[in-house]
Amino acid sequence: MIIASNFKTNHTRKSTREFVLQVEEFVSKTDSSVQARIYPAATALDNFEVDSSIKVGAQNFYPTCKGSYTGEIGFEQLQEFEVDSVLIGHSERRYVLKESSELILKKFDFAKEQGVEILFCVGEPKEIREAGIDAVMAYVWKQFDGIDLDYDRLVIAYEPVWAIGTGLTASNEDIKEVLKRLRESIQKPLLYGGSVKVDNVGDILDIENCDGVLVGTASWTAEAFCKMIEAAQKNGEK
Ligand code: PGA
Repeated sequence: MIIASNFKTNHTRKSTREFVLQVEEFVSKTDSSVQARIYPAATALDNFEVDSSIKVGAQNFYPTCKGSYTGEIGFEQLQEFEVDSVLIGHSERRYVLKESSELILKKFDFAKEQGVEILFCVGEPKEIREAGIDAVMAYVWKQFDGIDLDYDRLVIAYEPVWAIGTGLTASNEDIKEVLKRLRESIQKPLLYGGSVKVDNVGDILDIENCDGVLVGTASWTAEAFCKMIEAAQKNGEK
């Protein structure tokens, strides 16, 4: 199970460190196979000394080691902090920051070359969901165009755009159906994301083929995030 927290544009360097230390303390007291991922703002990346089940990753990068790309961060900068996990294809980057499929594919190929874990996000907007499950799957499969689904360090997050940051969660039936169809062709961990909260994480983790969650808003306190890790630990004991 993977429980991931995407900080987006939240937390400072100081509060990120406090968060990571609190999670480290919680995890070190428990013995489980739950994997925690924390994606802070780039300015808060650091050489955190954490348990091997925790990775502090990057929300974004430019597909280069270094070069002249004003304002961007390359892998040389990420490697300084031993970043070993990156988010690619998040809906806020696709739709708010207007990142193209071409750039997303370049980022994927570059990160793959670097050998890091890739948490690749896909998901449909509201009008596609309203058109039914076949339309949803056609949309999502298109987002996988060119993506190497056999990359061994690939993790997929299914995140319906309309459920992100809105308080609206997809129904368990809808999540189940999408994950089932993805599972037919993808043998990698499948996460769900979109308004996951402490109150619903247990039920979501119970869904068949669900290997974890990617959480934004409801994970921004260490207490809540640790509760979600705890829910995953309990799920693993079932
Ligand atoms: P949310 O965000 O939990 O706030 O809906 C999820 C995400 O952006 O991955």
